[in-house]
Amino acid sequence: MNDKILDGKSLAEKLNLALKVKIKEAVDRIGIKPKIVTILVGEDPASKVYLNMKKRTSAFVGIESEILELDEHISKEKITEKINKLNTNDNVHGILLQLPLPKSQASNTLKYIENISPKKDVDGLTPVNKGRLYDYNENLAPCTPTGIITLLEYYNIELKGKEVVIINRSNLVGKPLIFMMLKRNATVSVCHTSTINIENHMRRADILVVAVRHPNFVTKEKIKKGAIIIDVGINRVNGKLCGDVNFEDVFEKSGKIAPSPGGIGPLTVHFLLQNTFTAYKNQLGINF
Ligand SMILES: NC(=O)c1ccc[n+]([C@@H]2O[C@H](COP(=O)([O-])OP(=O)(O)OC[C@H]3O[C@@H](n4cnc5c(N)ncnc54)[C@H](OP(=O)(O)O)[C@@H]3O)[C@@H](O)[C@H]2O)c1
Repeated sequence: MNDKILDGKSLAEKLNLALKVKIKEAVDRIGIKPKIVTILVGEDPASKVYLNMKKRTSAFVGIESEILELDEHISKEKITEKINKLNTNDNVHGILLQLPLPKSQASNTLKYIENISPKKDVDGLTPVNKGRLYDYNENLAPCTPTGIITLLEYYNIELKGKEVVIINRSNLVGKPLIFMMLKRNATVSVCHTSTINIENHMRRADILVVAVRHPNFVTKEKIKKGAIIIDVGINRVNGKLCGDVNFEDVFEKSGKIAPSPGGIGPLTVHFLLQNTFTAYKNQLGINF
């Protein structure tokens, strides 16, 4: 059973250990600790749980982590002012705006992101970093797609010439993943809620990436035998976390599978911290 699992959790643990060593070496040499500030607007309990997890892993690898909690009803100008302050604070190397924003602020999301300095944009969501990705430059690329690619490469899964079907077109997952897959010569299809006959696309996939927020969205009759399945979804059903794939149903027919939880989530956290270290090195001109 185990050789079918794409074990993102174990890989993330290995990568976190390696990152910890590199950060220690940098801090020993130059005496400055990398720091990330996360802006949390409002009181979303799920975001708080997620942020505490990030904070623990930051502490493990040696990155200072601060959460800037702002009231949901704070003005647009005040948020912009806070971002500008972080942009010019030399002690802060990474800035993350925790998404989604509360409903009352959601329409300003892109405006706020545009305000973050691209040098400190550890989520890879500013127009500059999105543009770089379009040119296949992954220096500060979004964390979840980077986790997906890293997991596939770690398990030596060839992407060249493969039919990759992504069910998601969000800025965080599907859109950046298109460019990362194209860079590696995969043939990419992207599906969404207006896709007609989505199951035909799913059954064509050599590699199927799913992030739709629907438990049991993927079952065995919708996949090709031997397909690689990457479950990115995170849902809570009766208090228990699950992904978008019916794992037990799909397991035997699939070639390999990255489950959720335990697959892409821990890698996403790792790459947030890896990006913070990259941003730190870029800002301080370190190239070791
Ligand atoms: N593991 C991780 O680290 C990680 C990181 C990020 C996100 N996630 C999880 O991934 C999921 C997606 O996150 P997100 O931020 O990208 O969400 P999102 O912005 O809501 O995007 C969901 C995407 O799924 C598509 N979709 C929804 N229902 C569909 C259906 N019935 N048929 C076809 N397409 C459908 C949507 O299509 P339209 O564009 O047409 O609406 C949209 O493109 C969530 O469960 C989230 O928790 C996990």
